[in-house]
Amino acid sequence: MRNLVQDTPSAPSITAMPDAREVLLETRGLGFETNGHRLLFDVDLKIRRGSRTVIMGPNGAGKSLLLRLMHGLISPTHGDVLWRGHALNKTGRKDQAMVFQRPVLLRRSAKANLKFALGVRGEKGEKRNGLIQKALAAAGLSHLANRPARVLSGGEQQRLATVRALACQPDILFLDEPTASLDPTSTAAIEQLILEANANGITIVLVTHDAGQASRLGQELIFLQDGEIAETGPAQRVLKIPRSAPARALRDGQLYVKN
Ligand SMILES: Nc1ncnc2c1ncn2[C@@H]1O[C@H](COP(=O)(O)OP(=O)(O)O)[C@@H](O)[C@H]1O
Ligand SMILES: [Mg+2]
Repeated sequence: MRNLVQDTPSAPSITAMPDAREVLLETRGLGFETNGHRLLFDVDLKIRRGSRTVIMGPNGAGKSLLLRLMHGLISPTHGDVLWRGHALNKTGRKDQAMVFQRPVLLRRSAKANLKFALGVRGEKGEKRNGLIQKALAAAGLSHLANRPARVLSGGEQQRLATVRALACQPDILFLDEPTASLDPTSTAAIEQLILEANANGITIVLVTHDAGQASRLGQELIFLQDGEIAETGPAQRVLKIPRSAPARALRDGQLYVKN
């Protein structure tokens, strides 16, 4: 591990109280290399059940790649992703869900998008209908249930994608810049859905460029730079008193340029 500024556990002198909650997801020496280029190096992380982790860092730092690896969408070329202590596999992946920056919706109505996702999870009949109504209401989309998903506004689409992911009752939800192209009202609606989901026990891992959002949602913060962890720690500490150069640059509103 190099250039790592970390609060816990390898630097006990600056450690906050260790969190006793179960480690839901762990990466050990995680890396990804393609065409001789190492895009992600030596990522060691522990995501605890019920926590909210925010990942920040400049474009190309490897944030989306890290999410994809943790979600098992791609396989690592180095290291491991452990889910509840075992190698992440197809069964483990069923307990995970992901929301992308640009929502991926079916060419069907808002309601049918939910119906399909719940059907894949084995829900049917009255129970499924109930879950659909609940999800539409949570997204504030009950009145748009029969509208084709792809004609909904950006904010409505992202709310639909978020409640669709949550309707599958995952243990962990990954979100990759879910509000990057949304206005403040839509952003607030998505943030509320995320906080409610977390209050109901769903573990959150969110990528954002928005320091305000990181502060509102984050408990742990991971700062990635050039495919490596530059710094990790409690979100408020990393945002206010950053120890690494890239995180300091973000706080100070400067462009970080590596020497
Ligand atoms: N499957 C892939 N094959 C080749 N290069 C990739 C792949 N995925 C990501 N990259 C490259 O890895 C780097 C990190 O990408 P990404 O994780 O999307 O960055 P971020 O989300 O932090 O902006 C970029 O240089 C990107 O072009
Ligand atoms: Mg990205």
